[in-house]
Amino acid sequence: MSTLVDTRRVHVRDLRVRYAPGEPFVLDGVDLDLHDGETVALLGASGSGKSTLMKALTGFAPISSGEAHVGAHDLTRLRAKQLREVRSQIGQVFQQYNLIGRLSVLTNVLTGTLYNAGPVNLLGTFSSADRRRALELLDRVGIAHKADEQARTLSGGQQQRVAIARALMQNPRLILADEPVASLDPRMSHTVLSLLQSIARDEGIPVLVSLHVLPLALAHSDRIVGLRHGSVVVAGRTSELDTDALAPVYDALGDEEDA
Ligand SMILES: Nc1ncnc2c1ncn2[C@@H]1O[C@H](COP(=O)(O)OP(=O)(O)OP(=O)(O)O)[C@@H](O)[C@H]1O
Ligand SMILES: [Mg+2]
Repeated sequence: MSTLVDTRRVHVRDLRVRYAPGEPFVLDGVDLDLHDGETVALLGASGSGKSTLMKALTGFAPISSGEAHVGAHDLTRLRAKQLREVRSQIGQVFQQYNLIGRLSVLTNVLTGTLYNAGPVNLLGTFSSADRRRALELLDRVGIAHKADEQARTLSGGQQQRVAIARALMQNPRLILADEPVASLDPRMSHTVLSLLQSIARDEGIPVLVSLHVLPLALAHSDRIVGLRHGSVVVAGRTSELDTDALAPVYDALGDEEDA
């Protein structure tokens, strides 16, 4: 074993994914590295493969060829037990929040522990230490005062922050956020994305966040990866990119459906 500290949490090379034999590849030769502490924005038109790339990292999309590692796990040869383990280490945030609306905000955050616990009775089984931690995390995302409210009574921005607290409850080694601000107004989009970026830095884990709005990607990421038709067409440090450099991704807007 090398004694060098490898901050690379995710390592993907020449990844090819298709959903059925004989169909075109949805991801066709994708390279991706995610380092601890950094936020990487994933850009691409609808259908370019952003969600599929995230699904490949959680074992929900079939890998045809290439390399894909999350930590020590080789995603191309996982058994069921290892797959559960790798999924438990990945916090996921979705456009539609995926909270349980009739449960309290606090209980929703506590469900994040279930990934580690395996199947347990959902209600009434959480330890007081877990409850304290869930409250701390709600405080961190700025909505501790909503802990006892039903999740469905919160605004979209508040619900997304609950979802982020729930992901943190897993003690994730990686966060995948698939269009987490697509349903939020511009101000709340900035709030949620700067929260994700500060989590990446503070926790020392990578955050991969797919976005449709280029200025948001330029404002809230350390690196940008742009997909077009399942291939990486732009990759670089955000500080070295501008809208012109991202044009290959822009140009793709609207034409994926015809591909
Ligand atoms: N479960 C599936 N079975 C078959 N094809 C799929 C499946 N999921 C996605 N696809 C196809 O894979 C391609 C990429 O889809 P994907 O959802 O990864 O795109 P995306 O970049 O996330 O798009 P969007 O911005 O609309 O969310 C599309 O052509 C889509 O139709
Ligand atoms: Mg998608």
